[in-house]
Amino acid sequence: MATILLAGGAGYIGSHTAVALLNAGYDVVIADNFANSSPEAVRRVERITGKQVRLYEADCRDNARLAQIFRENSIDAVIHFAGLKAVGESVAYPVRYYRNNIDTTLSLLETMADAGVKRILFSSSATVYGEENPIPYLETMPRGVCTNPYGWTKAMMEQIFEDAAKADPSLSVVLLRYFNPIGAHPSGLIGEDPQGIPNNLMPYVTQVAIGKRECLTVFGNDYDTKDGTCGRDYIHVMDLAEGHLKAIGYILQHSGVEVFNLGTGTPVSVKELVETFEAVNGVQIRRIYGGRRAGDLPEYYANADKALAMLGWKTERSLADACRDAWNWQKQNPNGYRGVET
Ligand code: NAD
Ligand code: UFG
Repeated sequence: MATILLAGGAGYIGSHTAVALLNAGYDVVIADNFANSSPEAVRRVERITGKQVRLYEADCRDNARLAQIFRENSIDAVIHFAGLKAVGESVAYPVRYYRNNIDTTLSLLETMADAGVKRILFSSSATVYGEENPIPYLETMPRGVCTNPYGWTKAMMEQIFEDAAKADPSLSVVLLRYFNPIGAHPSGLIGEDPQGIPNNLMPYVTQVAIGKRECLTVFGNDYDTKDGTCGRDYIHVMDLAEGHLKAIGYILQHSGVEVFNLGTGTPVSVKELVETFEAVNGVQIRRIYGGRRAGDLPEYYANADKALAMLGWKTERSLADACRDAWNWQKQNPNGYRGVET
């Protein structure tokens, strides 16, 4: 079975993808500098699967370290999760975001070329569709004008991959545009572990539920949407992980550049998400309605037909499943991976 290098694989999406890959029989190597994660996540992946991961503490901007990883392992494909992802922080520290996110990509491409590794999947984002494209988003639409430096790093990295593959037709690239990942592995052993005050909706909701935050502020209820709150395409992180599994199967057999949306194809409002969370878990989420958050679009969601047609992948889990699994993870790990002996 093939060996897959997960750059940034100790993080939220990487750890769930590692579980899916290991369960399918792939060997997994993880390189992560733990800028936003913990080695404990990788130990938990091993516990869930009963399989071993080869873990390197490594900055993916360090070509020498990456070269060593490629020398010591026979890597068939790379999944590039490594990056900083907080939208607000990217506005405050744009240079840090451009430096980290672009450099990890360049270093991976350089060292892959030296090592003769020809296949890479990239964690892109629905944010690259920008503000102008009509919904639902289709892969054939042009990249739009991004609203923040984080989004621009994703758009620029997509361009870098496309140019690299054009120059070297033996390089195969799959750009995966994630919509809004939520939820956790049903074991509750791995999940999303934000540092400080969560920016994203679901971790904020679970922290209100557990009493770490007093009250959720719903950012805007005067949008032109079905209930006035924003609509997003929330995808269970295990569905997303299985999308990577299908994409790995694809890239091992095909060459060229492909782009896939990974989403459910259905928008859910903030109000619906919070009400589903309450109903499924039997807890109350204190909330107030506040003003709109700068940069938020009223509603967007995926057209996910291409992933079904070409990868044979679609989401299987419901919003209720994601709400239950997110709460299960939060209850079992009130402080995330912190405080756990590593
Ligand atoms: P995460 O922060 O949990 O995972 C990213 C991982 O990359 C972390 O483990 C971090 O320590 C590591 N990392 C960062 N810089 C690194 C470096 N220089 N060298 C080595 N490791 C480094 O985030 P996630 O939610 O798992 O996201 C994974 C990828 O998917 C990111 O590229 C993110 O931008 C992208 N993405 C995430 C979302 C989302 O909502 N979670 C949506 C769209 C795209
Ligand atoms: N929201 C609230 N209150 C909160 C947090 C969020 O009402 O405390 C609302 C937002 O206004 C938005 C929705 O919940 O309407 C979802 O917000 P998130 O911050 O969870 O997600 P975003 O859609 O803003 O952004 C996410 C990722 C980005 C990525 C983008 C597109 O955080 O990295 O999806 O894929 F670029």
